Amino acid sequence: MNSLSQEKINEIRNSVNIVDVISSYVSLIPKGKNYFGVCPFHDDNNPSMSVSPSRQIYKCFSCGATGTVFKFVMDYENISFKEAVKKIADLGGVSVDVGSIKKVKDHKSLHDLYDLSLKFYTNNINVAGGKEAKKYLENRNINDEVIKEFQIGLALNSKDGLSSILTKKFNNDDIMKSGLIGKNEYGYFDLFFDRIMFPLYDLDGQVVAYSGRIYNRKDNSKYFNTKETEIFRKGELLYNYHRAKQSARQKNQIIVMEGFMDVIRSYTIDVKNVIATMGTAVTQNQAHLIKRMAKNVILCFDGDAAGEKATMACSDILMNIGVTPQIVRLEDGLDPDEYIQKYGKEAFNKKLENPISVMDFKISYLKNGKNLNNSVDKAQYIEEIIKEIAKIEDEILKDITIKKVATDISIDEDLIKNHLNQKPKEVRKEKKLVIENIKETKYEKAEKSLLYYMLQSPEVIKMYKKKVPYLPTTEYRLLAREISAFYEKSGFINEADFIDYIECDEELMDTISKVSKNKTSAKYSLEEIEDYINVIKEYNINNEIKRLKKQMNEKQTPSEKVKIATKIIELKKGV
Ligand code: UTP
Ligand code: MN
Repeated sequence: MNSLSQEKINEIRNSVNIVDVISSYVSLIPKGKNYFGVCPFHDDNNPSMSVSPSRQIYKCFSCGATGTVFKFVMDYENISFKEAVKKIADLGGVSVDVGSIKKVKDHKSLHDLYDLSLKFYTNNINVAGGKEAKKYLENRNINDEVIKEFQIGLALNSKDGLSSILTKKFNNDDIMKSGLIGKNEYGYFDLFFDRIMFPLYDLDGQVVAYSGRIYNRKDNSKYFNTKETEIFRKGELLYNYHRAKQSARQKNQIIVMEGFMDVIRSYTIDVKNVIATMGTAVTQNQAHLIKRMAKNVILCFDGDAAGEKATMACSDILMNIGVTPQIVRLEDGLDPDEYIQKYGKEAFNKKLENPISVMDFKISYLKNGKNLNNSVDKAQYIEEIIKEIAKIEDEILKDITIKKVATDISIDEDLIKNHLNQKPKEVRKEKKLVIENIKETKYEKAEKSLLYYMLQSPEVIKMYKKKVPYLPTTEYRLLAREISAFYEKSGFINEADFIDYIECDEELMDTISKVSKNKTSAKYSLEEIEDYINVIKEYNINNEIKRLKKQMNEKQTPSEKVKIATKIIELKKGV
């Protein structure tokens, strides 16, 4: 599965005390058997995170964050599991092979293929055929240093440059999966030619795709991108994430731009806490990545109308997950790259130091193109801004915004307030719906409790294996399977070892957080466990009955119907 053995990982974890490591990041106070501190993974002033020296795990009772020392360091420093292992090994004085830190997990040959393609493209920029491209970059003020740092390369004007190299080393499967090569009756051919190649990296900094820019001819698309592959999912990565995370953490600020040229240009003026969305709408996944990078988020999109619209959309996605961004708008429709070149480093830094609040941005955005002396326009503006105000959770910010809007367009504050109060029907209905969805069913509660005790006790794992054929909720089912597999392999269960076993897999960790949220005691009674199991069984039976009833209603012969009905009656006895 990976180059680090479970034993080695355990040895490394045991070489340090989690209390010492965490207290080098946040201050901890002893209380009883455990230590307590303010959780760095959510906004809090209370010491709701406990660190257990005996179990060697930490757990936040407020946000549910939990894990071993590796998980803590991973999340705090925004680094990968392997990097965290290396870091702890250094602290504990355990030697570990750095070479094995690099992800060798899956898709190894695809990664190798990309590494080779990168060598090829970056070399091309320095050959005779690359003169014009080099000139183009020079004209854009991209010097050799930048070319090197961002590994900018070139696909020459040839249709088999890369394919002829790849076919010597890789099989058809990998070549066709790479998204770099096509195939017809004459053989393989390069999909990228005569374009300047900007490598795109995954979160670990490995090259997984390219964006190729035209530089010397006309073409329908300015940039041509690798299609999605096994290792490249555009919606799951952000350009420059791996370079920016350190600096973002230090400055506690991340700057979000649209284009990677903007990011590259920012680098040249030493602004390094910057990433790019690469021109598409920000996905939920990307929003969560941004949230993890730093607490303060600045959106600095292109100065044109499209950039303004994108700012609006991105703000909404971020605000939905509890991030209130600040906004920088650039004049004359310039993008950050153009702005920096035109006005220089000082001017751009000044822009960054004076962002506007997201509400101020929305106010000016909604006023765009409206003549507020015209009553129809004004009414429309008021209606639109009220919708935005209704979304604000913070009461003080809401009040301030109401005052601001009212003064700004000289209307009475009460007019806004009354409308806000009139709307709540709709708003409240929406809220209630959400709450109902969030409210967990007794089945879910049973699943969670069962899993929580499975993490503590072999006895409960055995009961699960014997009596529960199926957990209804997918994520809980997956966790149960992993716990069960771990137990089978190691013959014992303990949370810390288990968490390392799954390599802090994000989805599983989220599930563990859910499962152990609000739970403190490892004590349980057998009746309690039986109860959970019965509730789960009841759910499964009811589900099966539902399925059979549906089947019965579909086209069936009378005798088949009787068979199904008998089955249903049998099942009902079990509930
Ligand atoms: P922009 O058009 O703003 O790119 O698109 P840019 O940074 O100003 O590029 P230059 O300065 O003309 O070289 C923003 C991002 O959208 C994606 C790219 O990722 C780009 O960085 N894009 C844009 C494409 O994928 N394809 C396109 O044809 C255009
Ligand atoms: Mn540009």
